[in-house]
Amino acid sequence: MDRIRIVGGHSLNGSIPISGAKNAALPLMIASLLTDEILTLENMPRLADVNLLIRILGNHGVDHAVDGKRRGDQPNAGNTLHLSARNIVDTTAPYELVSRMRASFWVIAPLLARMGEAKVSLPGGCAIGTRPVDLLLMVLERLGADLDIAGGYVIAKAPKGLKGAEIVFPKVTVGGTHTALMAAALAQGTSVICNAAREPEVQDLAECLVKMGARIKGGGTSTIEVEGVARLSGARHAVLPDRIETGTYAMAVAMTGGDVLLEGARPELLQSALDSIEKAGATVKASNSGVRVTRNGAGLTPVDVSTEPFPGFPTDLQAQFMALMSRARGSSRITETIFENRFMHVQELARLGARIRLDGETAIVDGVERLRGAPVMATDLRASVSLVIAGLAAEGETIVNRVYHLDRGFERLEDKLGRCGAVVERLVGG
Ligand code: EPZ
Repeated sequence: MDRIRIVGGHSLNGSIPISGAKNAALPLMIASLLTDEILTLENMPRLADVNLLIRILGNHGVDHAVDGKRRGDQPNAGNTLHLSARNIVDTTAPYELVSRMRASFWVIAPLLARMGEAKVSLPGGCAIGTRPVDLLLMVLERLGADLDIAGGYVIAKAPKGLKGAEIVFPKVTVGGTHTALMAAALAQGTSVICNAAREPEVQDLAECLVKMGARIKGGGTSTIEVEGVARLSGARHAVLPDRIETGTYAMAVAMTGGDVLLEGARPELLQSALDSIEKAGATVKASNSGVRVTRNGAGLTPVDVSTEPFPGFPTDLQAQFMALMSRARGSSRITETIFENRFMHVQELARLGARIRLDGETAIVDGVERLRGAPVMATDLRASVSLVIAGLAAEGETIVNRVYHLDRGFERLEDKLGRCGAVVERLVGG
């Protein structure tokens, strides 16, 4: 298993290209199941999760092709991926695949909408909480599907097609909103999605579906109207830049000091997080080419944050912000309201010398003058990267184990950081 070795204490200077967003790329790829024509996705990130989803879609009969190098390509440009679900040969998504990536459960919506049936394994628990799918199933039932749960599988049937309906979410769910959009796009009649997730990735999916011929109004707002159509066509769509990758590197610069241009980043996708980073003492400036983050040697100011659905502070940046606050001059409170168990990084940050107490859904972080390198490991993607950030600012050597978590969601992390002066290398195997 690969590990990452970091020698901390170096400031970051230079530029980091921001990749396409993992959490937009995955639902966009799943949307390819809605049409028998080719869906072309540009600016695709090179990530383990993307490769795994290609395999999962392949199991349903989806062919894929990735463009080779083109004349004039930027060296950091994302991949162009063509997906063709011309012949869906299997409407079952097996446990072995769904259990490896929760988002693959979302295939249930396009399979059911287009094929009238789907059998998809329940995803099971995960490191950040129980993460039920009851609201996704509620969506399908509202749209007229018959559901049965047997042997750990959801068996969904709608032989005469889905029917438009009003869907009211009791809490904001990104996956629930993706599911509703994809299912309603091919339903008969109009659906109204109330209390929809407003995350940029939901808006990106809605925009792509519109290019495919869907009739959707209000994507990116809390009320979305979908007028179902009989069929969808192919389309070409570029994945939006990754706001979590942007926020992660912005926090890394705030932590180590330095001056980095986050190329291609769009500040409006993470304004709340950028505001918190500025309050902590870094300077954040938007330009045509991206977002520039600078911090000189001054100490960090403690800042309280509470995770919220978009446009609030994202849960996917909570662990990274906690790493940043571990070096602040004073105490901060970090509250997690989205997932019940997303504090697995606390004990690992403590191994680097951070002082953090938990009080229910709030972590109280007492900033310390210095962190000291140590071997650490994490149980999920964002927790792992919070340890990398902390390692960059710690004295001496930090070894981050279980790098496969990082590879799920951060493209060429050690390369991007290394080019900005970080001492970071991958230790292969061992
Ligand atoms: C998406 O997960 C993201 N994943 C997560 O990113 C992200 O943390 C999360 O949204 C919140 O922003 C992808 O986009 C692939 P939810 P999702 O449904 O859709 C509860 C990462 O690190 N809920 O918005 O699964 C749920 O338990 C990942 O990249 C129900 O109760 O999240 C949670 O408390 C991790 N019943 C809340 O809603 C349901 O049926 C929000 O979850 C569904 C969700």
